[in-house]
Amino acid sequence: MDSALPTTSATAAQHASPTGGSTPGSEWWRSAVIYQIYPRSFADANGDGLGDLPGITSRLGALQELGVDAIWLSPFMTSPQKDAGYDVADYCDVDPIFGTLADFDAMTAAAHAADIRVIVDLVPNHSSSAHRWFQEALAAGPGSAERARYMFRDGKGEHGEIAPNNWESVFGGPAWTRVTEADGTPGQWYLHIFDSSQPDFDWTNPWVREQFRDILRFWLDRGVDGFRVDVAHGMIKADGLPDYTPPAEGGSMGGASVDASLEAAGTGPDSWPETAPYWGQDGVHEIYRDWHELLATYDGDRVLCAEAWVDPLDKMALWVRPDEMQQAFNFPYLETPWNAAALKTVVSESLRAFAQVGAPSTWVLSNHDVVRHASRLALTEENPQGYGVGPNTPGKPDRALGLQRARAATALMLSLPGGAYLYQGEELGLPEVIDLPDDARQDPTWFRTNHERYGRDGCRVPIPWAAGHPAYGFNTTGASWLPQPDDWNDYSRDAQAGIPGSTLELYRTLLRLRREHTLGLGSIAWIEGAPDTILALTNGAVTVVANTGADDIAVPSSLADSAVLVASGPFDGRTIHGDTTVWFTTPSTLPVG
Ligand code: NOJ
Repeated sequence: MDSALPTTSATAAQHASPTGGSTPGSEWWRSAVIYQIYPRSFADANGDGLGDLPGITSRLGALQELGVDAIWLSPFMTSPQKDAGYDVADYCDVDPIFGTLADFDAMTAAAHAADIRVIVDLVPNHSSSAHRWFQEALAAGPGSAERARYMFRDGKGEHGEIAPNNWESVFGGPAWTRVTEADGTPGQWYLHIFDSSQPDFDWTNPWVREQFRDILRFWLDRGVDGFRVDVAHGMIKADGLPDYTPPAEGGSMGGASVDASLEAAGTGPDSWPETAPYWGQDGVHEIYRDWHELLATYDGDRVLCAEAWVDPLDKMALWVRPDEMQQAFNFPYLETPWNAAALKTVVSESLRAFAQVGAPSTWVLSNHDVVRHASRLALTEENPQGYGVGPNTPGKPDRALGLQRARAATALMLSLPGGAYLYQGEELGLPEVIDLPDDARQDPTWFRTNHERYGRDGCRVPIPWAAGHPAYGFNTTGASWLPQPDDWNDYSRDAQAGIPGSTLELYRTLLRLRREHTLGLGSIAWIEGAPDTILALTNGAVTVVANTGADDIAVPSSLADSAVLVASGPFDGRTIHGDTTVWFTTPSTLPVG
């Protein structure tokens, strides 16, 4: 790299707020760092091998030390756990494996006392087939009001033996299952976009809408600060349920594909790719407007965050218009490879698209559905999200390279304006667990594809707290619902706390600096003219240089006198190694975007 980093560029991506910014407590979500807790795998107080709510309460101190603003809990409601809790059998109770409502209240109170907001998962696209509403629908028979809660249809063919259409389940296999009627004859079919244990609701039915208003109120009354809305792009299906064959390159959780997203010729609907008849239908927005109004009747700035795998970003931005949700997960960002040009495009496009509707962008690199980014960023072969990595996957990642890139990618992400989501364990640098024994796997994807796709278990293994302890301190008994690898001592939180250069300390430092420099509410300007592998930007007083290539570069002379705030890897002040991100304080001579 030239020793002078060319500056100026005012391809500034602005972070707009219709209300002119944020004051403490007001629109906190615009810049919040939200930590995803996967309750099964976070901390296990009763020692049965599955994490629980008292376990979470007992470990909130660690999250306070980390410096997060909020936690989002994946589902802990009553469920047969066919899809790890995303199959809810009672929306207003806690499954005994996780504790009780009293445990939830205690956890929420403790989180609030620690200044941590609480977001819970809402699963409105489908319930569990064990839900009373579905069982009543089965019993009541065709044509009944109970069947109208879900998507029951007669089959095609002489005897109704052919499924109503050709849709496939996200987890593999057909999206329809035929029921046996009360008289023992083969009967109607019901739609399940996911597992057969997850029947889709019919959201055109006002009864369904009313039930969910009650569910929202139930949790809001208990003091939750918001909801992460599962499958927020899937609740309304196109009229007539037409046949549809998804494009081969579509993402497995809902059709968004980063290439399509960023290659869209224009920003208007005419240029958007064809939408699957079960994703991204316009009718969903009416539901979110209704929920927005409901949340607005509560104090304290409650939020809705959309899990909406739709493309392009301009379409995703429709989910966060001022009268709908507050945030949407930026999956195109998650799916972007560790490549300067691609990252620059997705960041610019995100800031542009969300700013257009007055919403902040969000940033996310890992969650419970994708290969952990400490492994994903070093995969040498394409791996669609949801497919997972296992012993026979080609292009297995190099662990050291993956971690180096992950740390650099996180350092870049946390310099960006908007909200950021972290997934439990990434602050420890945890890799995907690749060598899980076949008989330990539990993801329905593994079963519904006849073991062709490994699925998501590898990112869900209980996290390590204490080196040398049973289950690495996840509990005191050593039990673990998914087996933990033998070599996780060094990843344990206690092995990293206070150790300079550890991944945990890197995350703590990044979060502290992000807060001190109010980067979440800032705006960025790209520094143009850097070599292809370099991404350089300013956000307020901070200049960030990310080296996404393998080769070392010299610190540009224009930054020679600036102070280094943090580096994602070893840094001597002169050379930025490959796969490393460094934050500097912007020298006063540089124009700031
Ligand atoms: C998205 C969730 O993140 C995933 O874990 C789940 O399997 C599906 N939605 C179905 O609820």
